[in-house]
Amino acid sequence: MKNITIPLSRPDIQNQDITEVVRVLKTGMLVQGKEVNKLESAVSKLINVEYCSAVSNGTASLHLALIAFGVGPEDEIIVPAFSYIATANVVELVGARCVFVDIHPRFFNIEESQIERAITSRTKVIIPVHEFGLCANMPEIMKLAKKHKLKVIEDAACALGATVNSKFAGSFGHFGSFSLHPRKAITSGEGGLLVTSDPELDFKIKTLRNHGIEPGLVPQNFIAAGFNYRMTDIQAVLVYSQFLRLESILEYKSKLASIYSEEIHNPAIRLPEIPDGASHTWQTFHLLLENEKQRNKLMEFLKLNGIMSNYGAQCIPATTYYKNKYGYHSESEFPNAFEAYTCGLAIPLYNQLKEDQVQFISKTINNFR
Ligand SMILES: Cc1ncc(COP(=O)(O)O)c(C=O)c1O
Repeated sequence: MKNITIPLSRPDIQNQDITEVVRVLKTGMLVQGKEVNKLESAVSKLINVEYCSAVSNGTASLHLALIAFGVGPEDEIIVPAFSYIATANVVELVGARCVFVDIHPRFFNIEESQIERAITSRTKVIIPVHEFGLCANMPEIMKLAKKHKLKVIEDAACALGATVNSKFAGSFGHFGSFSLHPRKAITSGEGGLLVTSDPELDFKIKTLRNHGIEPGLVPQNFIAAGFNYRMTDIQAVLVYSQFLRLESILEYKSKLASIYSEEIHNPAIRLPEIPDGASHTWQTFHLLLENEKQRNKLMEFLKLNGIMSNYGAQCIPATTYYKNKYGYHSESEFPNAFEAYTCGLAIPLYNQLKEDQVQFISKTINNFR
């Protein structure tokens, strides 16, 4: 097994997915069209929301959601201190201010008990992230949002199919945003999905993603300064074909995650945990080491054994742009996010990974000193 490299991630593209892409290519109808509509209907139905807009990527999806709320320079947006950088970048791109909140040390999601103290008269939106595919505590977050009359955009980039108390990620907030990047369970190469049950918000999104053209009108009526954030029919059919097996993909990933949890016994390593009532898509299986040196050493050790790994996500206020702009002392102000950033490690977990490979990776991790 030593000479084989196990990648961190690999998309699950099957022959039938390729056949479907070729079918669409042969129609000559490539841009946003009926394949996009079909994907949007299927996703809305699964998540149990009224509307879905397929867009060019998960960052565009978050960006559109903030614009639809009219977020601008006077506004503050609550963002977890630990996430993929895009969650905060979109806030900066609309000229608003990020207010970071630390995360839970075991679940890696925003610590809901710390949100209220971050709310000011300028707060407009909370963006909880379902980090690594585990749903944040949405029932509590929605209660807080209601109390303070705030909007909620769920950054569910990694969490298509995750639930809390059997309710789907993306269906709690005013918007739910998903990514279809190749590291996700199903992928369109690049792609995003933005769901909502509010018809006015949906109308704005469908207008803004398509150059500001009023949806469904012939002749065209240009009613806003919009973007080209559309998804192509080529991408839509690719991801729809995988969407049909989403449940089995998530089940299999969950089985692999259980093997890791049962097989990894190394006192130097903390395993991820799931709170009661929540389900995980296991976009990432994220270990915590005792310190940064140990984390880097494990990464090197795994590489020597043909196993690829990588950092999980960023402590955003500790990255150069945010540190320079906001001047946070992340280690003391966001200790859990800082720990996850400096001591966390993502190990392979994807649909094409075999059970014996997970056993091998676990054994290798157990041999690490
Ligand atoms: C939490 C989170 N938000 C946003 C994004 C951005 O998605 P995309 O890469 O599709 O733009 C990602 C990407 O992985 C992510 O993990």
